Amino acid sequence: MSTTASLKIEDKEYPLPIMIGTEGEKAVDTRALRAASGYIAYDQGYGNTGSCESQITYLDGDNGILRHRGYPIDQLAHYSEFVEIAYLVIYGELPNATQRRDFGLLLRRNAAVEMQMQKILEGFPTSASPMAMLAAMVAALPAYYPELASNNFEKDLKSFDLAAAIAISKIRTIVAMIYRYQKGLPFVFPKYDLPFCDNFLHMMYTIPYQEYQPVPEVTKALNLLLLLHADHEQNCSTSTVRMVGSSQANLFTSISAGISALSGPLHGGANVAVMQMLQSIHDEGDDGSRFIAAAKSGSKTNRLMGFGHAVYRNFDPRAKIIGDACDTVLTRLGIDDPLLKIAKNLEQAALKDDYFVSRRLYPNVDFYSGIIMRAIGIPMNMFTTMFAIGRAPGYIANWKEVASNPKGRIYRPRQIYVGPVKRDYVPMSQRP
Ligand code: CMC
Repeated sequence: MSTTASLKIEDKEYPLPIMIGTEGEKAVDTRALRAASGYIAYDQGYGNTGSCESQITYLDGDNGILRHRGYPIDQLAHYSEFVEIAYLVIYGELPNATQRRDFGLLLRRNAAVEMQMQKILEGFPTSASPMAMLAAMVAALPAYYPELASNNFEKDLKSFDLAAAIAISKIRTIVAMIYRYQKGLPFVFPKYDLPFCDNFLHMMYTIPYQEYQPVPEVTKALNLLLLLHADHEQNCSTSTVRMVGSSQANLFTSISAGISALSGPLHGGANVAVMQMLQSIHDEGDDGSRFIAAAKSGSKTNRLMGFGHAVYRNFDPRAKIIGDACDTVLTRLGIDDPLLKIAKNLEQAALKDDYFVSRRLYPNVDFYSGIIMRAIGIPMNMFTTMFAIGRAPGYIANWKEVASNPKGRIYRPRQIYVGPVKRDYVPMSQRP
């Protein structure tokens, strides 16, 4: 296979190196194009741009394939649990028994949030957006751990293991605290002897004089939900983490930026939008056809939420896993959720509709994740914070790749300027 491509501009040929990934993904390396020709590669939204080489996640959107460090997501979902996947995503290999134990201990030791940080949380209005609170709390972590967040790759990498454990464990604790704060309930401290997911549920649902008792089905559902979100290649928020990290910003600051990016309705906020859509179909006693008709108008504001994906042109493999799990979890918990029926009907209707079929729009992970979260008691306004807990390992692994790359550069895309050409300043008295 050829190792060089050629681009012809105005009768001049420019050789461009070809790059091939380990799964055969092909790219033309345009880095030297501007210096050689004066041209840049234009790709609004970066839909056809490789911003980095990465060893973390392989995604083939045409064939609905997702693998972390080589392991297919369906195998991971079937055999593993969130903490093990977090280790795999961050460190590149499945942990052996000692590594798994040590990692778990580090998470347990770093679960509690400092008293002073609690005061920051209590400074927010109780009605504040949970994602705004979460991003702000994570942005505050460098103030509490300056020795782990020196904005110097060499130093920050030396304390990486601890910083990573703090990020994973405390993001989970902060989310539980936000829930308690908004409910007007006292904070519940993490318990050292509880596994990651049970500890979260304990901090969420323990009420005075009634400690939360782990329910295996709920723990399993939460583990599945979190691990399915652990990483997803160069999505909007992960790319944000890499972009911010490329300036040598520390891990916590970079993650906080990622959490902010995650909050938008086209990204992590979609799980909320899906539930609002399903609820409104239910409240109106509709069969969903109105939503489908509106979604076909082509307007961005009327999209069928939970459908379509920036990279999948096939079923999102996570959606299949979580859709199947919905049935099991709800049956085991004895819940009959009318929204699940509506979601299934909507999915069937859309999958038969030419608009969705011809555009290859299929359900994504958010289509069913809200139903599982609802079943385990997570309020809708907290859905995206759950996504953030799950995605923390991906953010951390991607930050680490940026920080460890000796050839890395600061992310600095270019643009095509289409504003006014040069003109002279006009004094106020002469302006129309
Ligand atoms: N409903 C109706 N039409 C849609 C939808 C949808 N959900 N998604 C895409 N389209 C249309 C789009 O208007 C375009 O139509 P046309 O060719 O006539 O102009 C066509 O399908 C192709 O769109 P696209 O280029 O695949 O879409 P995109 O890459 O611009 O956007 C997306 C991807 C995920 C933002 C979009 O599909 C969407 O808004 N989906 C609903 C929101 C959602 O569920 N987001 C969660 C994504 S998964 C979680 C995550 O990883 O962040």
